[in-house]
Amino acid sequence: MAGALPLAPWPNGARAATADRFTPDLEIELVARPDELQLLPGPSTDVWRYAGRVLKGPSDAVQSVPGSYAGPIFRFSTGQKVRIRFKNQIPQPSIVHWHGLIVPEQMDGHPRHVVPEGGEYLYEFTVRNRAGTYWFHPHPHGYTGTQVYGGLAGLILVSDDEERAARLPEGERDISIVLADRTFDRANQLVYEAAMGGMMGGMSGFFGERILANGRPALSFPAASGAYRVRLLNGSNSRIYRIARSDRKPLVAIASDGGLLAAPETRSFLVLGPAERAELWLDFHDASSGSKIALVAEPLDFGGGGMGMMGGMMGRGARTRTAAPSSFALFTVDRGASRQALPARLAELAPAAAPRDLLRREFALTMGHMRWGINGRVFEMDEVAPHERIRYGDTEVWEFSNRNAMMVMPHPMHIHGVQFRVLERIGTPPDLQGLHAGFLDGGVKDTVLVLPGERVRVLLSFKDYRGLFLYHCHNLVHEDMGMMRNFRVA
Ligand code: C2O
Ligand code: CU
Ligand code: CU
Repeated sequence: MAGALPLAPWPNGARAATADRFTPDLEIELVARPDELQLLPGPSTDVWRYAGRVLKGPSDAVQSVPGSYAGPIFRFSTGQKVRIRFKNQIPQPSIVHWHGLIVPEQMDGHPRHVVPEGGEYLYEFTVRNRAGTYWFHPHPHGYTGTQVYGGLAGLILVSDDEERAARLPEGERDISIVLADRTFDRANQLVYEAAMGGMMGGMSGFFGERILANGRPALSFPAASGAYRVRLLNGSNSRIYRIARSDRKPLVAIASDGGLLAAPETRSFLVLGPAERAELWLDFHDASSGSKIALVAEPLDFGGGGMGMMGGMMGRGARTRTAAPSSFALFTVDRGASRQALPARLAELAPAAAPRDLLRREFALTMGHMRWGINGRVFEMDEVAPHERIRYGDTEVWEFSNRNAMMVMPHPMHIHGVQFRVLERIGTPPDLQGLHAGFLDGGVKDTVLVLPGERVRVLLSFKDYRGLFLYHCHNLVHEDMGMMRNFRVA
């Protein structure tokens, strides 16, 4: 799995935090290490995985996912002070990023903070986000895709008072599912770089042959006839999914990346790009005992490395790198339960609207020398261009423009250090407009899928922390090739 090792700029035992003034409510040790696991029939699979344990605070703040390489699930609540001792025991430099959480720059897992094998990094931050489903993963430059693919990713479930007031299903009825696609060789080992297909692979991304849920071929749940809260993360490196119910009943979405929607929204399908999250209210009250209802992920294929292949491929599947539609979670209703009413309102969240005079920055998703970039630039560790300097406290509109004439690719654009609202999508080609019905653009977001041909405007405020933060494409192949930049809030 390891390629050539980049240099690690920080010595062993690097500490970012000043331990004195910070008294954590919760202290966790998080180790990234090699392991092997029985995932498929036959030989076990070598993986990298995160193992976590609580050093101080509530013991249920870290939950492992049994039988899976998936990282532990962290349960935080808003306002909590968290300390995490990260130990890197994989043979590559690494650093952890808390995707979606708003933390100071030293705590954000910027690639310049990587620690080598044997190194440690101390994180301390206060949880400022709303309740929601966030996640963590490595963020070294050039190796994020390799390390996530190897198994390094975990969920962070944040709760707050507003969420508790919404009285959503809890305990066994609160289910988290991480979707990811993987290719295995005949010895059941994960295949990554070799499967990218050289240059064209680098341009379109990595597409695994099978879709896994929490690291397994499929999940099944004996279910009661009541309601479930199902949290979904697309933890794939490049693949986009269209998610639906096997019985074709509509899905009810209750949350997006940054937490609860204002009210439940009904969708016949959901589209989830890499790093995006969605939460469902899955209700079986009208299902008879013995019914089987699955959540199905259909890969969405945009033609991969095709030149100008815009038309007619949506949802058709069956292209070379396309995995088959997959029932990734099967619910078998085997008992009754009292009916739980879907709340009519979930959260205080006004529709997003931007005052006219806001500063608008444009970020063109560009290709030069067969590499993706942003405004014609690729990642440089410390570089901040003039248009990437932000005034602290400002509210702005960022426009991601995906109008490359040569290559037709969607790009899941992610911004660190903020949560944002989607304002509008402009210029979507007619044959892709149908996909809008599967987005949760009305919610709070940190990653937005920008379709080929589109310009997507988002509203964001830089009111939390000053410092150097990243924005990038979350197609990890694109990110690792440099489709990532810094911005500085000062
Ligand atoms: Cu989920 Cu910069 O990453
Ligand atoms: Cu992030
Ligand atoms: Cu991209």
